[in-house]
Parts: sequence; C-alpha cells; structure tokens
Amino acid sequence: MAEQIKILVGTMTGTAELVADEIAEVLTDKGVEAEIELMDDLDSSVFADGGAFIICTSTYGQGDVPDNAHSFLESLKSDAPDLSEVRYGVFALGDMTYAQTFCFGGKQFDEELQKLGAKRVGEMLQHNAAAGSLPEDDAAEWAEGWYEQLTEAA
Ligand SMILES: Cc1cc2nc3c(=O)[nH]c(=O)nc-3n(C[C@H](O)[C@H](O)[C@H](O)COP(=O)(O)O)c2cc1C
Repeated sequence: MAEQIKILVGTMTGTAELVADEIAEVLTDKGVEAEIELMDDLDSSVFADGGAFIICTSTYGQGDVPDNAHSFLESLKSDAPDLSEVRYGVFALGDMTYAQTFCFGGKQFDEELQKLGAKRVGEMLQHNAAAGSLPEDDAAEWAEGWYEQLTEAA
C-alpha cells in the first residue's frame, strides 16, 4: 500500500485545488499521507524518489497547461528523468466548449509521464465544465476507484 501520495496541482482560478482537497480527504481516510503541492515551484526532482502521484490540472489558452504548470512541464521535457518507479493518475479539468483542445493540460502531462516510463494507474478523468457538474463533486468517486486500482497493482 502506498504510504504517501503527492497531488500536484496546475490551476489558474483555483478549481483544480478544490478537486485536490477532495481527493486528499478520500486518501487521508484510507490512512494515506496525502500531500497537495501547487506546481508553481516544482521541477522534475519531485519524482526523484519514485512513488505514487496524482496530477490534477486544468487547461488554458489553446490546449496549454495553466501558467503555474509551465516551468514544471518544461523541466520534465528538458531533464527527461527515468520515471519507471513512478505510478500516477490524472484528473484533468477542461471545458468541451474548447472541443479541439479538451483537457489537453492533463493530456500533456499524461503523454510526457508515459514517455518517461511512468505507469498510469486507471483512466484519466476528463471533467467537462460545460456539462454542469462540479469537478470537486466527481473527485471523491474517482479517487476511490483510482486508489483501489493503485493498491491492486502494487
Ligand atoms: C481563457 C480560458 C481558456 C480555456 N481553454 C481551455 C482549453 O483549451 N481546453 C479545455 O478543455 N478547457 C479550457 N478552459 C476551461 C478550464 O480549463 C476549466 O474551466 C477549468 O475547470 C478551470 O480550472 P482552474 O480554476 O483550476 O484553472 C479554458 C478556460 C478559460 C477561462
């Protein structure tokens, strides 16, 4: 069982942080030490010891990651560390109004992490803000399922 799980948050207006709070609550109830970190000051070294992570990020511009996630994503691309000891999940926030770039923020992280050898657990949740439901309301159910798959895979 994973003892510690880091939830890395890319956000512009705070919605992804609300989602991270919900996910952390679910994990904490399971006895996990869940730590939320905004991506602002992160670089690829956050993955240095391996372990389990959740990427929780929205999408802006034309399929871009939020401003606070740019340098983190760039450092993954330029440092290209071996992430074979990393397992992760992705909760992507987006809006189908931007159909061509729906949830591309989360998809960019997913693509990069896979390229570096990290193993995704479960499916990426792609939340559509235009559909009416609040992402933080979907977060608990997704986190339950994701954690179950994480522990099964261990
Ligand atoms: C200016 C702007 C651009 C956006 N661009 C996209 C986009 O390209 N693709 C997408 O799926 N969602 C896009 N979104 C939707 C946001 O990702 C979504 O509203 C999200 O829930 C915001 O989360 P945050 O508060 O954590 O930043 C955009 C929103 C705004 C305001």
